[in-house]
Amino acid sequence: MNIDGINMLPGCAEYPLNQWYVIAWSDEIAPGKSLARDCCEVPLIVYRSQAGIAHAMFNRCPHRGMMLTSATGRVEGDTVRCGYHGVRLDSNGRCVEVPSGGPLPAKMCVRTYPVVEKWKWLWVWMGDARLADPALIPDHEYLGLENSPMFSEPGIRLSVKANYLMPLENLVDATHITYLHHGLIDSGNVAATPSQLVVDGTRVASVRQFSNELLPPMLCAAMGLKGNRVNRTLTLSAFANHLCEIRQDFVEVGDEHAPPKRINLIVSITPARRTQTDHFALFSTSFQNTHPGRFDDLRNLLMEDVVVLEEIQQLFERLGHAHAPEISIKADEGSIRSRRIIAELIRRERQAEPATAPTHRQPA
Ligand code: FES
Ligand SMILES: [Fe+2]
Repeated sequence: MNIDGINMLPGCAEYPLNQWYVIAWSDEIAPGKSLARDCCEVPLIVYRSQAGIAHAMFNRCPHRGMMLTSATGRVEGDTVRCGYHGVRLDSNGRCVEVPSGGPLPAKMCVRTYPVVEKWKWLWVWMGDARLADPALIPDHEYLGLENSPMFSEPGIRLSVKANYLMPLENLVDATHITYLHHGLIDSGNVAATPSQLVVDGTRVASVRQFSNELLPPMLCAAMGLKGNRVNRTLTLSAFANHLCEIRQDFVEVGDEHAPPKRINLIVSITPARRTQTDHFALFSTSFQNTHPGRFDDLRNLLMEDVVVLEEIQQLFERLGHAHAPEISIKADEGSIRSRRIIAELIRRERQAEPATAPTHRQPA
């Protein structure tokens, strides 16, 4: 699918750069440590200074190309020392030391990227740094993360060998729950239940209502229900291309005066490479979820999707665009709206700044 000259075909869809993407859980990087991650095709070193401030920069030494995250490299203060010949770069990506002597070459620098630490995530901005406004990060209070009476904790990271648009559309498509996850989180009635589409800025949501519904045992156990019948509101939202939320509000039949219980499954979507996507997934709940197997259940659930998405991607690669058409149905309405919103974000950023050769040097 091509929208205004922008490729939005799942399998090879383009993505905006002027966007915050989750690059790591906060607790993945201790002070003085680093890790290697990809975002929007760019290899990054994400590190914390000894004082605990998080930074991201292009993960290639400007001297002879060693990865800064190599085993012999290290963080020193708020600088990074390359593990090949010891060149040291500061948190602005500028060379501050060449141990073998001589002048510091003016071009000896790499590009750095804005990082924001919010709740228990590290968010990185890969586009025009002047536009990196933290207010563009999805509302954490709404999601039940910060300043909220909800309970939340870091969950799991999953890497999927598929273009980001596939997992994104998978997460806003409730109809596959009935077939792909049958018996696990659905008793068979989601796909055929009509939905209402809600578009709010860059958020696209589908809402379904269920009355006197039979819930599968996994959900009853997770919420500590006495029986197995509920009234449920199911809302699936995509926030542009970088976060999905599956929100479920339950009222137990026979216990209608009790406050509704809420479970949010939140998945942050990061296009690492054209055909590789990182998921950062967690629950926020209106009750304390102490079930010891909760993250195993979450991983098992998402892995059912991962297997399918990777198979679709592989077949797409094998057949190519021409022999891999997609025919949409009514249930894809939300996905198509999301594609249009994402394409518009890309179109606007290209209009503001015509495409130039990508550079990994720090802009002057
Ligand atoms: S490659 Fe990094 S110092 Fe030589
Ligand atoms: Fe799924």
